[in-house]
Amino acid sequence: MSYRQNIQLTPDKKLKHFLTIEGLSRAILTDILDTAETFVSVGEQAVKKVPILRGKTIVNLFFENSTRTRTTFELAAKRLSADVLNINISVSATSKGESLLDTLRNLEAMQSDMFVVRHSESGAAHFIAQNAPDHISVINAGDGCHAHPTQAMLDMFTIRRHFPSFNQLKVAIVGDILHSRVARSQIHALTTLGVEEVRVIGPKTLIPTDVEPMGVHVYHDLRQGLDDVDVVIMLRLQNERMQGALLPSPQEYFQSYGLTENTLAYARPTAIVMHPGPINRGVEISSKVADGPRSVILEQVTNGIAVRMAVMSMVLGSYAAARGEK
Ligand code: CP
Repeated sequence: MSYRQNIQLTPDKKLKHFLTIEGLSRAILTDILDTAETFVSVGEQAVKKVPILRGKTIVNLFFENSTRTRTTFELAAKRLSADVLNINISVSATSKGESLLDTLRNLEAMQSDMFVVRHSESGAAHFIAQNAPDHISVINAGDGCHAHPTQAMLDMFTIRRHFPSFNQLKVAIVGDILHSRVARSQIHALTTLGVEEVRVIGPKTLIPTDVEPMGVHVYHDLRQGLDDVDVVIMLRLQNERMQGALLPSPQEYFQSYGLTENTLAYARPTAIVMHPGPINRGVEISSKVADGPRSVILEQVTNGIAVRMAVMSMVLGSYAAARGEK
């Protein structure tokens, strides 16, 4: 099965599933950002709810750990007035030998409308989308090293809230690019939205050999790579996906690639610092930077709710309908 196959659009080019940024147009990405903008105010109301997905049933299927993504998907669904089921995979029937497809058939029989899927295998969300009945939409909440499209979109939303346009921005992504589904989705989003330059910075062992054709410049020296950038995106070392010793000790890694006040000084004075989380203080980022005035890490978390509301309402075709649009 090719998980690159783009099954996420309807014949009239609307989002049906949200599985990867790859292959989506700038217009669709911009539509997600604009729709998310309209949902920001919901979180600032006394009653944080709108009735857009009332009567819909959304199933959170997380086969891998998550803090931010699972909870913000749940909050987003509840703020849209959907009913939410959180399946605890460790105590579900898949741990008793039931196949994934049989578990899904049972959830479909409960008249679900959407599956939000996180899985350690690349391609899992595509597999589920290909095997789901027509009325069910699937959102990829992170699959292996492949894609994490809603994370990338909440990152784009956060950048757009700090800068007037994408096209004059230099963005650096620093760290374990090789194992990062977030980096892959960010690179597709940044290049599609037309940023001036995307850089990836890291040791040779953590940069994929085929990354340059994606439209990025590779740096192995942190200071050179950060020179004059507007946005610094730090990534954690994904030790759970590393096979063999790709790195010296965490202390040596921090010496070469850790973001500190000193290394951040190479970026533009207006540069913002981002991280998808979870952060590892003293490994890829110092506490002074993570908690400092240029860090927007917690803004990213808040923005994740509005962006996930936008994606959920768009794939169910409910946002335009709620506004009386065609
Ligand atoms: N950024 C992110 O995916 O974090 P979680 O693993 O906590 O969901």
